[in-house]
Amino acid sequence: MGLRRKFFIFGVQSILTLAIGLSTAWSQSTATPPKPATSQDALINGYRPAWWKEAVVYQIYPRSFKDFDGDGIGDLKGITSKLDYIKGLGVDVIWLSPHFDSPNADNGYDIRDYRKVMTEFGNMSDFDEMLAGIKQRHMRLIIDLVVNHTSDEHKWFVESRSSKDNPYRDYYIWKDGKPNPRSPTGFDPPNNYPSFFFGSAWQFDPATKQYYLHYFAAKQPDLNWDNPKVRKEVFDLMTFWLDKGVDGFRMDVIPLISKRAGLPDLTPAELKNAGDVYANGPHMHEYLQEMNRNVMAKYDVMTVGEALGISLEQTPLIVGESRNELNMIFNFDAVRINRDGKQWISWTLPDFKAIYARHAVELDQHSWDTVFLSNHDNPRLVSSFGDDSPTYRVPSAKLLATMILTLRGTPFLYQGDELGMTNYPFKSISDFDDIEAKNGYKADVLTKKVTEEAYLDNLRHMSRDNARTPMQWDSTSQAGFTSGNKPWLAVNPNYTEINAAKELTDASSIYHYTQKMIALRHATPALVYGSYKDIDPTNSNIFIYSRTLGNDRYLIVLNFSKESRAYTLPGGLKPTALVTSNLATSEVGAATINLRGWEARVYKY
Ligand code: NOJ
Repeated sequence: MGLRRKFFIFGVQSILTLAIGLSTAWSQSTATPPKPATSQDALINGYRPAWWKEAVVYQIYPRSFKDFDGDGIGDLKGITSKLDYIKGLGVDVIWLSPHFDSPNADNGYDIRDYRKVMTEFGNMSDFDEMLAGIKQRHMRLIIDLVVNHTSDEHKWFVESRSSKDNPYRDYYIWKDGKPNPRSPTGFDPPNNYPSFFFGSAWQFDPATKQYYLHYFAAKQPDLNWDNPKVRKEVFDLMTFWLDKGVDGFRMDVIPLISKRAGLPDLTPAELKNAGDVYANGPHMHEYLQEMNRNVMAKYDVMTVGEALGISLEQTPLIVGESRNELNMIFNFDAVRINRDGKQWISWTLPDFKAIYARHAVELDQHSWDTVFLSNHDNPRLVSSFGDDSPTYRVPSAKLLATMILTLRGTPFLYQGDELGMTNYPFKSISDFDDIEAKNGYKADVLTKKVTEEAYLDNLRHMSRDNARTPMQWDSTSQAGFTSGNKPWLAVNPNYTEINAAKELTDASSIYHYTQKMIALRHATPALVYGSYKDIDPTNSNIFIYSRTLGNDRYLIVLNFSKESRAYTLPGGLKPTALVTSNLATSEVGAATINLRGWEARVYKY
């Protein structure tokens, strides 16, 4: 709250013109992207304009996007071959999940060499070619920065584990265990920290008889950010990629980099949500500011932190513009509303809406937001938040696109959501690839804490593998993802019905609707910089909100249910201009509107 500053309204009409000019300049520019906003730039509704605020981002999970060489694994040449498809959607920025050399314990989130491309994905000249193709199409690229941990096969760790006096020992977090004659190793872990991927966060290493810390898998040892040499290594590798021309970073679990002094045991209360303790270490802000000074401040980049463990109230301390840390973060309150820990739970629309209302209060004009409901760690958008039944899949996917592209914050779309791809019909644990799903099976099912059926049922709803099945390009074998006959993860059997080729030829498809909504956002500064108001927060079925910039007022009406509803607009509203809708309608000027199941409308009023 202390960060909140005065709200400026600053010659909105002329600023509107400027904003339209900015967006147009960017979409039409051929070479140099717009300069970063400076303190002299006019504010728009109190916001300092910036290209990354106006951008729409599309996430690629390279393993699952497009396989060019037929080995069953997506690759960089595959991405390059599909750049026209991505550009056709109208997005501005691609976020590429890790493409670095990795033994793939966690599909690339365990990096062995930060300056080498994963062999399965190609080589550095494939990367350069892909980047050039992105730039030629006037898009930008942000890459994944995974520096809370490395792979245990990274040369730093190989050195580090070799002896206690190795110069790299201090690159990681090593501790003596607690002596326990009954334990097979003679020790218990140094403290009670749990790993996000089940079991203890400590791994005993027989070579030196100490434990190392790993918040994720044992093959993902945590770096010791308190060591200035580690920070320098990270800043150098970031500079390496920026000098190649990438436009910024999505930063993996970045709030976890600073560890609590002395690593004391967690209390029983803290154990319920260890992530909150792992985040917010004593030096997190200091290290992010140091990173900003040493790296980001020298380039015109976009940064977005995966902010596990950071509450909405704490967010301005990372993204506030006077803080000089990150541009924005991902807050998981909305995307995780349907789970308690790792358990799938039901959710209500008023609770969901309250999250966005809180965002609008906590993140003011000086703290930019993101908006997203899917990524490679979450189930499919339409299965999670819409209705993936044959009748409502298309309208509900379009409704969700309407919402994401009209809410506050930079929108992030995940590959395949523009086609309305759905969760996968998993039958047994052998259908899964994800280390989290497999570790959970060992920890919960094999120990009989949970029945196999209950475990699988939960995974069907929330497994990360739902989002990782290959992109469905067409109705040929393996959905056109690979020319081989064995993709690394099975293709969803619904690919003959749901695929890009079909949607590209259908003017009423989810792809074309998403394209239209992206174009609307680009042409409408009110949808980027406008103020947000939830008009009917307690309604259990209708999400209705306004985005307002000066005299430009938009009303977004979303029927989050399959039932048709006659809905009397609050406050005597009778909007007369329909901007767009996901189901053909021409209803304007009415006090009571008739919404069909999963209908979405955008009015100007
Ligand atoms: C968050 C990433 O999104 C996820 O995929 C990964 O497993 C963990 N961080 C560990 O890097």
